[in-house]
Amino acid sequence: MPENILIAIAWPYANAEIHVGNITGSHLPGDIVARYHRLKGNKVLMVSGTDSHGTPVTIRADAEGKPVEEVYKFFHDSFLEVFKGYGITFDLFTSTHTENHFKVSQAIFLALKENGYLYTEIRPQWYSPAAGKFLPDRYVEGTCYLCGHDGARSDQCDYCGNVLEPEKLVNPRSKIDNSTPELRDTEHYFLDLSKLENKVADFLRARQSYWRETVSGQSLGQIESDGLKPRPITRDLDWGIPIPEEGWESKRIYVWFEAVIGYLSAAIEWGKVSGSGEAWREWWTNPNAKSFYFIGKDNIFFHAAWWPAQLMGAGKAFMKIFAEEEIPLALPYDVPANQFMNLEGEKISGSRNWAVWGRDSLSRYDPDALRYYLTINMPEAKDSDWSWEDFVARNNNELVATWGNLANRVLSFSHKHWDGHVPPVDETQLRAADRDLLAVIEAGFNTVGGFYETVKLRDALRESLRLATEVNRYLDANAPWTAIKTDRDSAALTIYTALRAIDSLKILFAPVLPFTSEKLHAFFDYPAPLFGEQYTEGVSDSLGEHTVLRYKPAHESLLWTPSQLKPGQPLQQPAPLFKKLDEKVVVAEELARLGS
Ligand code: MF3
Ligand code: ZN
Repeated sequence: MPENILIAIAWPYANAEIHVGNITGSHLPGDIVARYHRLKGNKVLMVSGTDSHGTPVTIRADAEGKPVEEVYKFFHDSFLEVFKGYGITFDLFTSTHTENHFKVSQAIFLALKENGYLYTEIRPQWYSPAAGKFLPDRYVEGTCYLCGHDGARSDQCDYCGNVLEPEKLVNPRSKIDNSTPELRDTEHYFLDLSKLENKVADFLRARQSYWRETVSGQSLGQIESDGLKPRPITRDLDWGIPIPEEGWESKRIYVWFEAVIGYLSAAIEWGKVSGSGEAWREWWTNPNAKSFYFIGKDNIFFHAAWWPAQLMGAGKAFMKIFAEEEIPLALPYDVPANQFMNLEGEKISGSRNWAVWGRDSLSRYDPDALRYYLTINMPEAKDSDWSWEDFVARNNNELVATWGNLANRVLSFSHKHWDGHVPPVDETQLRAADRDLLAVIEAGFNTVGGFYETVKLRDALRESLRLATEVNRYLDANAPWTAIKTDRDSAALTIYTALRAIDSLKILFAPVLPFTSEKLHAFFDYPAPLFGEQYTEGVSDSLGEHTVLRYKPAHESLLWTPSQLKPGQPLQQPAPLFKKLDEKVVVAEELARLGS
């Protein structure tokens, strides 16, 4: 039975370009797991979109003196380019600025209210007399009252990773003009997380055995030490989702409250645009569906505690509002959050141009070379580091030397000596060493598959590479290049065996290296492609127009199986899969780009 797999990926804020730290943190791991499950014949729905609201976006628009709509669209379009170029195959990449998302978010709000999890309260909030307005969230910076870091935002400290209560910030300064804000009373809706604390803790404990320690440890630790406190879920802003209640016209729903709802609203939108209106329920109201949330460590609280609380709190009431039915919504199955990737030993920083940008990187390197490095170096358990010297070394010594040359050498040799075909051997004649190699590779479908399944993507790639090394060793031992002159039958058996191993490795590598596995698949002359196609589409609703990124699967068949390559099958003319990089040139040029 195929499984329903929801791949939910963090929604990037529409205030900056995407860099390699973002890609390795969430988009790439999500795509790898999605592609693995598609090869397994499972039903995958991979969604995300642009996080268009909130102060990150309005502050950027203020700084540029541009309308917020223009700023959010600019970054939204740049995200689509990066994802297309890197092959991040969203079934739907949309935006939070859509009519559908507004409706779904307001329905969750109302459901929480109906269930008694919301209340209003007048509390002091930072206000700028100079600007004549309230300064929510990132509009105020100062010293973190928990860790003492200066440069914390009023709602979150990036240094210690804590979500903050804004009015407790020490030494507050306005982001607009650096003036000192004062506290003034304002009324807001609060989500009473304390009422959901036990449920959230139970939810986390039930998953602790298989979640990453970095994720369950942080979330449960925080609940056990401080408990879950009520949090305000509305803001004094005019950009964002209106509060579905009269008298609240001057306020908007808090960006984090609604952005996480995007995972649900995007599934619903996907159902609409793909003409299968109710299909989203196969992932959202199906108790057997599994959902994986790919995020960076700074987002853990919102996905591991806040979002499950919203889902449990809204529960059946949401479905009653939205679908006239009482069914609870599916809670996260896993939240495999990553740590951060640094660059040349320092924190990535957009403002200092200390970054490798998504779009820019694609102008000089092939996507699979980038995907390879970002996977072998993924910050799964601890922060990792992008170093250009290491990038070139791993490209040349691992990707090219171990895998690319192996595939190219064997395919070219076969194409040349067997006239564009796989050697026409009698399979019953395979020798012990041939069968041993095939058995070793075949076992890879379990080991490597297990790694993909449990989101150990570095291990999946390392193990695939180790298997490629086994094929290289087998070829060294059997030397078909010399045997061809003296014992053509033996050379034929060796090349046939190696081709079959490569045909299998192609599948094991495919989730990480989809572009080159697809090429290799075509060299083997298979008629149908491994993967489907990405394309963009214009959508318009009452809020305006935007472009979405979509994915059309090529098929639904099971491809996660060892090669059944037929002796004598035709081959296409092969070509090298990867490019060797010139270490001196690349490292010098790239280092010169940084920080300028
Ligand atoms: N925009 C947030 C960030 O870049 C991530 C939001 S993920 C969400 O940190 F889906 F929850 F919105
Ligand atoms: Zn702090």
